[in-house]
Amino acid sequence: MTVSERIKAMTGKASWVRRMFEEGALRKKKFGAENVFDFSLGNPNLEPPARFREILMQMASDVSTGTHSYMPNAGFVETRQAVADYLSKLSKFSFTPNDIVMTAGAAGALNVVLKTILNPGDEVIIPAPFFMEYAYYVENYGGVSRIIDTNTDFSINLDRIEEAIGASTKAILVNNPHNPTGRVYTQEKLTRLGRLLSRYSEQYGEPIYLISDEPYSKIIYNGLTCPSIFDVYQESFLVTSFSKDLSIPGERIGYIAVHPLMKDKDIIMEGLILCNRVIGFVNAPALMQRVIPSLLEVSVDASIYQRKRDVLCKGLEEAGYKFFVPGGAFYLFPESPIPDDVEFVRALQEENILTVPGTGFGGPGHFRIAYCVDDGTIERALPGFTRVMKQYV
Ligand SMILES: Cc1ncc(COP(=O)(O)O)c(C=O)c1O
Repeated sequence: MTVSERIKAMTGKASWVRRMFEEGALRKKKFGAENVFDFSLGNPNLEPPARFREILMQMASDVSTGTHSYMPNAGFVETRQAVADYLSKLSKFSFTPNDIVMTAGAAGALNVVLKTILNPGDEVIIPAPFFMEYAYYVENYGGVSRIIDTNTDFSINLDRIEEAIGASTKAILVNNPHNPTGRVYTQEKLTRLGRLLSRYSEQYGEPIYLISDEPYSKIIYNGLTCPSIFDVYQESFLVTSFSKDLSIPGERIGYIAVHPLMKDKDIIMEGLILCNRVIGFVNAPALMQRVIPSLLEVSVDASIYQRKRDVLCKGLEEAGYKFFVPGGAFYLFPESPIPDDVEFVRALQEENILTVPGTGFGGPGHFRIAYCVDDGTIERALPGFTRVMKQYV
């Protein structure tokens, strides 16, 4: 056999997002792209801010010697300094370049952190629903995902977390703002989570790490802010990227920031830098590392996504859908009116509306709408959403 048994089993269960994408391609061919309403992918539809192109052109025309050479595996020190300065403004702590590793997106960052900390059999607690790739990332390093329920409004359930913590717990992985629900965790809840983790870290004599995945931290509405994880817990990693807030997911640029006071920080940093190299990333893309220091305070206009959210929520509410109004990211996670979310998503497909079943995110009985699409797609899809709902009520 050509591929490993493990990978063969994994490719056999193609992700729901991928299945919807393929279904969409077929339907677009058959019915015309303008007649298919594709809400399946979290691919931002806004173009990057003008400033991004300006800085990109400037950096691309730099002909200095060594511009395209290998660099320290953690990334350029100037880039890490800029990120450190930026983070120092957002939390009570002061960061230095020695707290930062530049990575190939948030996905790269997560893999580097997990490879650094996991021994085979170590458990990572993940509140569901969740971004499905997490389970693969944990498995990449022999870890075990411990999936736990959240509250009905998708806020973190501390009791469930406490029940799941044990001697094998190495980390908890949270995502704020949240894919697929759009939930934004509050400072108060995160503070209580931090206290809980401190208590159990002390009890087990080993830190339980908090990993916070925050690529949507600037896509946030109604004056909400994404609380700094560093202010709530010392043994914490921030992993993030510029994929969503600058609309540049194809450019693969992100970073890991480690709490400046993390116990054993030096060995952790050495591990992260080594893993960035030996996973095969070597370092984050050089050109993007030169671009992003000028763009740390810049992002796409989140109010555009907020407007899309409002139009979608109003239309779906009128059609009888039930959901929690998202506070950030660009996803809505309504209840399916029937328990079988896959069947419901298939019914929407008959109207050429492509969404993803909640089952694909460990959240059955729901479905995900990625509303990072143009306004016309939302407006033209609403009558179809209404017709499908009418079949079930
Ligand atoms: C919650 C979450 N984490 C991580 C990622 C990966 O982001 P990146 O493209 O920066 O690797 C995504 C992408 O959709 C995501 O939704």
